[in-house]
Amino acid sequence: MSLFRTKSIEASIAETVEEEYQLKKNLTAVDLTVFGIGVIIGAGIFTLTGRAAAQYAGPAIVISFVIAAFSCGLAALCYAEFASTVPVSGSAYTFSYATLGELVAWIIGWDLLLEMMLGAAVVAQGWSQYFVVLLGHLGLTFPASVAPGSRFDLPAFLLVAVITALIAYGIKESMRVNLVFVAIKLFIVLFVIIAGIRFIKPENYSPFIPEAIAPQAAEAGVMHQPLVQLIFGLNPTTYGWGGILAGASLVFFAYIGFDVVATTAEEARNPQKDLPIGIIASLIICTILYVAVSLVITGMVRYDQINPKAALASAFESVGQGWASTLISAGAVAGLFTVVMTLMIGGTRVVFAMSRDWLLPRWLGRTNHRTGTPVRITIIIGLLVALVASLTPIGKLEEMVNIGTLSAFVLVSVAVPVLRKSRPDLERSFQVPGSPILPWLAALVSFYLMLNLPLDTWLRFLVWMALGFLIYFAYSRTHSRLHLKGEAATPHEHIGNPAAGGRYDANGSTRQDD
Ligand code: ALA
Repeated sequence: MSLFRTKSIEASIAETVEEEYQLKKNLTAVDLTVFGIGVIIGAGIFTLTGRAAAQYAGPAIVISFVIAAFSCGLAALCYAEFASTVPVSGSAYTFSYATLGELVAWIIGWDLLLEMMLGAAVVAQGWSQYFVVLLGHLGLTFPASVAPGSRFDLPAFLLVAVITALIAYGIKESMRVNLVFVAIKLFIVLFVIIAGIRFIKPENYSPFIPEAIAPQAAEAGVMHQPLVQLIFGLNPTTYGWGGILAGASLVFFAYIGFDVVATTAEEARNPQKDLPIGIIASLIICTILYVAVSLVITGMVRYDQINPKAALASAFESVGQGWASTLISAGAVAGLFTVVMTLMIGGTRVVFAMSRDWLLPRWLGRTNHRTGTPVRITIIIGLLVALVASLTPIGKLEEMVNIGTLSAFVLVSVAVPVLRKSRPDLERSFQVPGSPILPWLAALVSFYLMLNLPLDTWLRFLVWMALGFLIYFAYSRTHSRLHLKGEAATPHEHIGNPAAGGRYDANGSTRQDD
């Protein structure tokens, strides 16, 4: 059953010390939390909140945010357990290679690429729009022929080019830039909450859950219906509980990113302890902020008058505080920058892990001695994201990013009890409480959110998966390191922490650094 061949965790860890595939171990728990917040808060809260409140859930968008946070929280616990057990780059991809086998690992890797590369391109377009709005506030006009929405979105292209250069240059440098921008972004989000509170009109919260109605013409049609409604023959609705769930599947996008923290496992100084902290802390902080922002926005503006394109800025304009929209645009420009950057770092680390396993050409993954980063992959991913972001109208494909991420969540959650059973001996510095019930629940909730995504998203997703299978069977299966060389390391009784000085040689035995 070579499709389900697994790679031992010892082998994965042994490869992290191979000279040509080494990443620098620089990141602390605070770096990882900032990294998490840097990638989580972005287009989701700056643009999707308004769309989801106006078109799906009304003030009950707050409930959608809580449901999405619940599903992410469950998945985050599973990610944290894995990250503390398998501190190897590649996140869910690497976890599943050790548990569910090569084919599933490939599928997850492929899903993660969808999440991170398409996510980066979608957010880059959002950034470009805010950038032009900000220039407008500052009295500058951007040439329409290369503005967002034209044939060539120049700002999106330049953004991705600058980020590519930065992340190829070094992870620590990228994190420094990240820190500054995350600080600006947090400031603006707190500003929206604090400045907005006094403009809340309690009557805007009533009805809190607007009554379900038939979808408007633009939203009608089979292609836009959540799959769950089609399967169970439910009448299509907007608002009501159906709307809340569809809203949760959409604003799920706003939480994407805590999982990306796990992709940097090999660059953390003490991954077993710091990764769970980074993953869980960033998710908790963002959940609190999101719930507060959505309460403020739906309290300031009645849900059917929310501007779905620029809810935050328009809310302040509607109460005569137009100046605030300049500040919000500046926050979005800083905030979306870090999202694109972090998603791209995540994407490069997934391809890195896949190429180190030779599922993708192995020359791709070599790290540069001077920068300690996989420069070739970074440039290739940068180019792809730049072209997609600047030349295609993908600005509305958040749901496609969500389905890729949710499918990875389902598989990671299932993998937790599988690894507990197959390798009870491994040291787990963080454990999901209540396993196997909680991981199963995590998988179910993620799957249910997937079912609430529209049919067209599912169809696009199936096309993406078909492409993935094609590449796997045409190339990866026969080129895989596991296929060609077998296991590089044999199972060992105890997993140490390579970052803390214990290392694995190619036979899976530990040795101490000099
Ligand atoms: N969570 C990220 C955002 O909202 C992807 O932009």
